[in-house]
Amino acid sequence: MQQPPLTPFSLNLLLGRIAHEWETRRRIFDLPPARFWAADPSVDLSMEFMGRPAATPLGPAAGPHSQMAQNLVLGWLAGARLFELKTVQILDDLDIERPCIDMQNVGFNIEWSQELLVAESLEEYVKAWMMIEILRDWDPIKPHIGEEPGPHVFDMSVGYDLAGIQSEKVAGFIDSMMDATAVIDRLRPLIPEPFAAYRDHKFPTNVADSITVSTFHGCPPDEIEAIVKHLMDRHGVDVIVKLNPTLLGFPRVIQLLQQDLGYRDIWLDPLSFVDDLDITRGVELIGDLSRYAAKSGRRFGVKLTNTMVVHNDKKFLPADPMYMSGPPLHVLATALLDELLITMPGAFAVAGHDGPIQVSFSAGVTKENVGETIAMGVTPATLSSDLLRPGGYGRLEPMLRQLERDLQEGGARTLREWHELQWDEAKAAGYRGPAEAHLQATLDGDARANYDIAANEGVPRAVDHDLQMWDCVACNLCVTVCPNDAFFRLPTPVDSGLSARQQYIVLAELCNECGNCMVFCPENGDPAKIKAKIYVDQERFSGGSGQGFLITTADGILELEARDGSDGELPRLHEILADADEGIPLRLQDFGA
Ligand SMILES: Cc1cc2nc3c(=O)[nH]c(=O)nc-3n(C[C@H](O)[C@H](O)[C@H](O)COP(=O)(O)O)c2cc1C
Ligand code: SF4
Ligand code: SF4
Repeated sequence: MQQPPLTPFSLNLLLGRIAHEWETRRRIFDLPPARFWAADPSVDLSMEFMGRPAATPLGPAAGPHSQMAQNLVLGWLAGARLFELKTVQILDDLDIERPCIDMQNVGFNIEWSQELLVAESLEEYVKAWMMIEILRDWDPIKPHIGEEPGPHVFDMSVGYDLAGIQSEKVAGFIDSMMDATAVIDRLRPLIPEPFAAYRDHKFPTNVADSITVSTFHGCPPDEIEAIVKHLMDRHGVDVIVKLNPTLLGFPRVIQLLQQDLGYRDIWLDPLSFVDDLDITRGVELIGDLSRYAAKSGRRFGVKLTNTMVVHNDKKFLPADPMYMSGPPLHVLATALLDELLITMPGAFAVAGHDGPIQVSFSAGVTKENVGETIAMGVTPATLSSDLLRPGGYGRLEPMLRQLERDLQEGGARTLREWHELQWDEAKAAGYRGPAEAHLQATLDGDARANYDIAANEGVPRAVDHDLQMWDCVACNLCVTVCPNDAFFRLPTPVDSGLSARQQYIVLAELCNECGNCMVFCPENGDPAKIKAKIYVDQERFSGGSGQGFLITTADGILELEARDGSDGELPRLHEILADADEGIPLRLQDFGA
């Protein structure tokens, strides 16, 4: 039988890892405290997401950073306070081709929903919820996250058709997220020392009660409308509709992408526009749903945007079409926001319009544009592509610092003040508002240098050397670009005969072979396949093939078993795992839980 792409770690193993890693390395899931975020009391970055308070306006978009429990914890440590969870849908045993992510420069992928069973996704989200609740109160990290890390919001994402969303599987998932008492109670006994006092903690049981509807894959307008109404009526949730850049229409997208920004090698499929919403129907739908929400006592919002469907001429990813994100998408989403503000004045909850419809943003947000993005009045700004680049989750904290600096330099103390100041400034410069001002800057101004083809055709550094299991450039990129924190490093033991300062090892259960580390590794080869793969799950180890090593414990002593002829590497792996001062980042006593 084919193996599932991921086998999540138990709550016991994850919390044990947090305690152990902090004690032995002063890190959590490989993130150093210098990249934890603590609020600067002189600026208030808080916002409301559909009426729910969140301490910052940033977080992971539905994607690889919001799928597994440790990913959500990493985002939170780095300052994310709004989490658009990975999309859940009825088809939860999809066979997604690998590699599935290509962040070489622009940003493409071929993923489209969770790679876990729906029941596993539920457990991952609740585990993350519980771990964050524990960590926000954990004394050792308080100097790095501050005494009051502030509120955060988990926002569910579901797709892609009404029948699937009405199914018992997806409806049960939504119900359990809204009242997670049973899951929390099942997980409580797994909370290990030094957190055992939390077994009796009153964890908030409402993990999420808002939903972003992913309208990808040609979800027809009537279906979108029916899904939103169903979610509001049956589940009583507030709903955001995640719109696609196709809403701009084929001629405008071609103009922006190919003519204005110069991406002449990125080909669009006109048919993908035919299946999706057009602007006339889109505007009608947004208006209708906003009125429906008001009548039902619910909130409604839009999210700009999901990825752009394009032809795969690059052939690195093994599927066609593929989905474009990153810098060019930022320009498309900004143009769409400007267009919607022209077409529906006073409808959206952004400065200068002050309507009821919240606008959330996810398209090529980076440290360079976070100030201008938020200045457009959108909250939150969620991201995927930037977090897949070197530094990974560690890119969020500098992004938040940049936003704080932007506000301080602009004389604003709150995001609201920042929106208003930027509105006044844009109007004074003759623009319709900050969205048009930012759009013009990305097309003609100084900012263009971050978005056009010239800025986004470079490739990561390469060295002409074939990657081996031991030794390498030891650049650490595989650790930081991995959304699942599947890679870790250990110092090379003295007298081992190896030359690199660090050795790199994969936690096999957490690696879905997405390809992101392969894209950034400067050596030739795929680190996820070549570097030693260690397993803690007997079944997964036995069901797989190729090099691999099972870790077990006997009387607290680490034992290793090799697979498929990798026995020859056992002594070296043993020496690295057992003899290096830091040791393996997992606690042996937590195995098997
Ligand atoms: C690898 C990858 C997987 C994604 N998976 C989903 C998904 O499951 N559901 C969804 O609505 N959007 C998904 N997205 C889209 C993102 O949520 C986001 O809207 C888009 O990537 C634009 O933001 P970015 O430019 O910061 O990446 C995914 C994006 C990437 C890069
Ligand atoms: S180790 Fe590499 S291939 Fe595996 S999940 Fe992480 S980035 Fe993707
Ligand atoms: S495996 Fe590649 S990416 Fe990882 S540290 Fe070695 S050279 Fe760098």
